[in-house]
Amino acid sequence: MHVLVVGGGGREHALAWRISRAGHRVTAAPGNPGIGRLGELVPIAPTDVSALCEEAVRRQVDLVVVGPEAPLVAGLADELRGQGVPVFGPGASGARLEGSKSFAKSFFHRHGIRTAPFFLCESAAEAERATRELGGRVVVKADGLASGKGVVLCDRAEDAASAARDMLEAGRFGAAGRSVVVEQKLNGRELSIMAITDGQRYELLAQAEDHKAVFDGDQGPNTGGMGAVSPAQHATEELVQKVRREIFDPTMRGLAKDGIDYRGVLYAGLMIDESGEPWMLEYNCRFGDPEAQVVLARLATDPVPALLGAAQGALPAEPAAWDERACTCVVLAAAGYPGSPELGDPLRGIDAAEGLTEPEGAGEVIVFHAGTREHEGELVTSGGRVLGVTALAGDVAASRALAYRAVSSITFRGAHFRGDIGARRAGGTST
Ligand code: AMP
Ligand code: GLY
Repeated sequence: MHVLVVGGGGREHALAWRISRAGHRVTAAPGNPGIGRLGELVPIAPTDVSALCEEAVRRQVDLVVVGPEAPLVAGLADELRGQGVPVFGPGASGARLEGSKSFAKSFFHRHGIRTAPFFLCESAAEAERATRELGGRVVVKADGLASGKGVVLCDRAEDAASAARDMLEAGRFGAAGRSVVVEQKLNGRELSIMAITDGQRYELLAQAEDHKAVFDGDQGPNTGGMGAVSPAQHATEELVQKVRREIFDPTMRGLAKDGIDYRGVLYAGLMIDESGEPWMLEYNCRFGDPEAQVVLARLATDPVPALLGAAQGALPAEPAAWDERACTCVVLAAAGYPGSPELGDPLRGIDAAEGLTEPEGAGEVIVFHAGTREHEGELVTSGGRVLGVTALAGDVAASRALAYRAVSSITFRGAHFRGDIGARRAGGTST
């Protein structure tokens, strides 16, 4: 199969790596230097819908896999489908589950999916009223896409008021912040569960736990994700079954009722409360990043039949198989991230990191590129999240140890990372 991967981050490198490892041909738009070692790169931006369609048709690719959310929200999958190209990723109507927080919240509400009480607000006065009504501890969310930065957690009503004013009056997120969702702040531990669906049936992927805050111990501002581990230690079989019944099953019925033909990833961002009840925080319409890195590294079967099956409305009956080993991905970030990162610094030590194995030889290191580019024959940093240093080994402790050994052999100026990826205990809470 010839697969076109759209995007150029760590998630797309992981997709390209797993697809190419299964023997398929990969082309990526625009890709990154890591993906460039696996296949051809074409310099087309992920949001250039018409150029991507033209390229897919011209190259007669067998499947397009869309990594990021923005092109999906912009209707890339609809355009490709309209031209007869199989595409893994929902059309614009399904991508609204991620692209519009208010759409998502009303979807949860309409279809009986447990979610924090909320109000949709279009003025600072409405947001203040909502905050009062919800008891003062709230989360203020820009309605539209804001690269994961449009969510402000507030413990005091004053903070909520200022977050809402920032978005609604000062235009902090542009059009994405013209309306905001104000919702009750929940306590508990987060869990990401991803499923692949063809619109009728779904298959859950291996569970992963993300680490969103920039510093150890969940301190500091939120990022796109500083690291992930799979399996997720708190995802018990009982909890996963509950999430199937109470989150995914009603979602599938809801999509059918709403007439949305959804083919791609449904990524549920959940908060598990103290009594073990799952609450829906959000849906993403694509693989998580860096969750994809650990989940795809653990995938023991060829991903293409499932991706193509979902794209064509017929998920294979045979479920995926998973590597028994655990996987940890530690993100190396550039100085300044998640604020404005410092870029253009040379990177060293990736090959040495990839050459590491565990003492028993059962471990494996893969370094996924996220924010890198070639400059005058040298690899330099080009984005806030630079690399996803990923290690497979016998159990979580062994995969953490191997990942951190690999991290220590990579250097670039100002590199920072969390030292506690995968270190949370099964019973701990994150907030
Ligand atoms: P979202 O984009 O809606 O998933 O929000 C991004 C992050 O903000 C989530 O992963 C949580 O860490 C946090 N968050 C969102 N909504 C809530 C909530 N109601 N209570 C507590 N934390 C939340
Ligand atoms: N790691 C969080 C996300 O992909 O949204």
